[in-house]
Amino acid sequence: MNKDLRQPIIAGNWKMNMLASQVEAYAQELLLLTQGHESWCKTVVCAPYPLLPAAIDAFKGSGVGTGAQNLSMHASGAYTGEVSAAQLIDIGAEYVIIGHSERRAYYGETDEIVNKKSLAALESPLRPIICVGETLQQRELGVTFDLVSMQVKTALHEVAADALGRVIIAYEPVWAIGTGVTATPEDAQEVCHAIREVISGLYGQEAAGATPILYGGSMNDKNARELLMMPDVDGGLIGGASLKPESFAVIVNAASQR
Ligand code: PGA
Repeated sequence: MNKDLRQPIIAGNWKMNMLASQVEAYAQELLLLTQGHESWCKTVVCAPYPLLPAAIDAFKGSGVGTGAQNLSMHASGAYTGEVSAAQLIDIGAEYVIIGHSERRAYYGETDEIVNKKSLAALESPLRPIICVGETLQQRELGVTFDLVSMQVKTALHEVAADALGRVIIAYEPVWAIGTGVTATPEDAQEVCHAIREVISGLYGQEAAGATPILYGGSMNDKNARELLMMPDVDGGLIGGASLKPESFAVIVNAASQR
């Protein structure tokens, strides 16, 4: 499917930054700076749990979606400190990041856990943004494609074809996250294309052509345009550069003009 038929998605990942009291001003500035681009690019902000109600409120009616950065694989029950898909939906969140490399590295999230969380999200109306990507060592060993392919296949295990329509994949090479080192547009394209081939093998070409595949890892206002022009790069998952509305807006606007 032609890239032009996939709406670009730019998702901000605030990680453990910002305060609830800062959200309203952030939202107002972002909306002002991206005015006129909202129908071309789907903008999403993924906030820490306690900031979500403020973000949902601040972006209400604007077209900017809101999401969490994690969720429980369980539906409810005795899981102290966890947050369920139903609880996120109940407050009005629409997206959730799953399997971010920081969760994989610091909290032991395996591909199997990522799969269970993806299934939990898809049992609700949430749209999961499933993160995959190789470490520098894995890239140097030449196993990037095998590894990313395995991550995608495992994450999508038992995901029904009709639920795939809500899945967003984010290719985030671990060595590019928060380091200022970005993958070249060609490297990003190569892996995003390989991911689409994997999805095509699982669900067919049409479904793969409709699946948004984002790039993440030091994407910023300077390098976004080049990355977003690549045929299989449908948007970005943005960490550091999403914390300032000025830089985030430049990326959103670049995506809507691609
Ligand atoms: P970064 O983070 O843009 O700060 O590299 C991206 C991410 O972790 O999603």
